[in-house]
Amino acid sequence: MNSSQVQVKVLPPAEVRPEHFEVVDVELPEPGPGEVLVRNTWTSVDPGLRLRLRADAPEGYFAAFPVGQAMDGIFTVGVVEASQADAFPVGSTVWHSYGWRTHAIVAADEVAMNGIANLRVLDAERAPAQAYLGPLGAMGLTAYAGLHVIDALDARGTIWVSAAAGAVGSLVCQIARLTGLRVVASAGTDEKVAWLRDVVGVDAAFNWRERPLGESLGEVAPEGLDFYFDGVGGDHLEAALGAMNNGGRLALCGSISEYEGEPVGPRNLFLATSKNLTLRGYRGSAHLDLLEEMQDRLGGWLADGRLTYRESVYDGIRSAPVALADMMAGRTTGKTLVRI
Ligand SMILES: NC(=O)c1ccc[n+]([C@@H]2O[C@H](COP(=O)([O-])OP(=O)(O)OC[C@H]3O[C@@H](n4cnc5c(N)ncnc54)[C@H](OP(=O)(O)O)[C@@H]3O)[C@@H](O)[C@H]2O)c1
Repeated sequence: MNSSQVQVKVLPPAEVRPEHFEVVDVELPEPGPGEVLVRNTWTSVDPGLRLRLRADAPEGYFAAFPVGQAMDGIFTVGVVEASQADAFPVGSTVWHSYGWRTHAIVAADEVAMNGIANLRVLDAERAPAQAYLGPLGAMGLTAYAGLHVIDALDARGTIWVSAAAGAVGSLVCQIARLTGLRVVASAGTDEKVAWLRDVVGVDAAFNWRERPLGESLGEVAPEGLDFYFDGVGGDHLEAALGAMNNGGRLALCGSISEYEGEPVGPRNLFLATSKNLTLRGYRGSAHLDLLEEMQDRLGGWLADGRLTYRESVYDGIRSAPVALADMMAGRTTGKTLVRI
């Protein structure tokens, strides 16, 4: 059995580009005892991959990708084609961590990506398989856990969600709105802003590229911010610190503005002290205990139509590097996926 897999050819010096990768065919063995062969059907494209396209990934994070080898530790879903593990029969839909390739041999008992990507059978009746790479999977968990760690679920007040038209941000906006917050959202194109306002249903939205962030925030949230969900870092985190109310709480989910360039602040961190703020960094994968609760709540909202999600789909394993470059540059909306 052959598997076509994406490998890193050279580490990107700045913006990631398709020519930094190559697709290589490798021969897979038969699955051994306790293993399955999976034909991957969808694979995930995440900003976190860019953090691993370096000689060393940030301390504590998933490992850097070695040049010229398979890229292990990427969310994916697929169908079991051969099995030597009783709990994973042929034909079952599963998620696992060997994405960015067409086929993979997966050990049933392997702990993958802090446990969030262990081989798991999915309920394909509940939602399309790729939803488990979006709202019903790690993206949903990251969104839900972020609001949980700052006690924003079922709270009252105003939250700003940055990178709001993306995979995680668009879910955060909706969970926050459905559980009681006033939601203001930012994204990088007018089309995304219109989608946030008209379809996602936020209370106000603005294009972060158009005006200084402080001006936009003053307009959409004159009452100040009680919560901030940060997917961007840098200038966005700085602007949030400026707009927070006393005692406000910030979920530090990611800093995408820094992944391909020099970190730029925030320069006003003393405001965390003067305003009694709580800044809480977290990983979705550290909150596996919330997975079932999240799937029940978000699954319910999906079923009754209160939760929406969008996908930017690229076709074929060869398109994965293009998809990553497009997502980093803001050319995708919702969850970025490769259909294999
Ligand atoms: N803590 C965790 O466990 C965890 C898990 C998953 C993701 N994350 C983090 O959450 C954030 C969002 O991830 P995602 O998967 O949902 O990706 P995403 O939002 O679907 O895609 C990334 C988006 O970031 C925006 N962006 C890129 N550069 C920017 C800049 N300089 N300033 C402002 N916005 C910029 C772009 O949207 P615009 O066009 O709107 O600018 C782009 O579409 C990332 O920081 C990611 O690392 C953390």
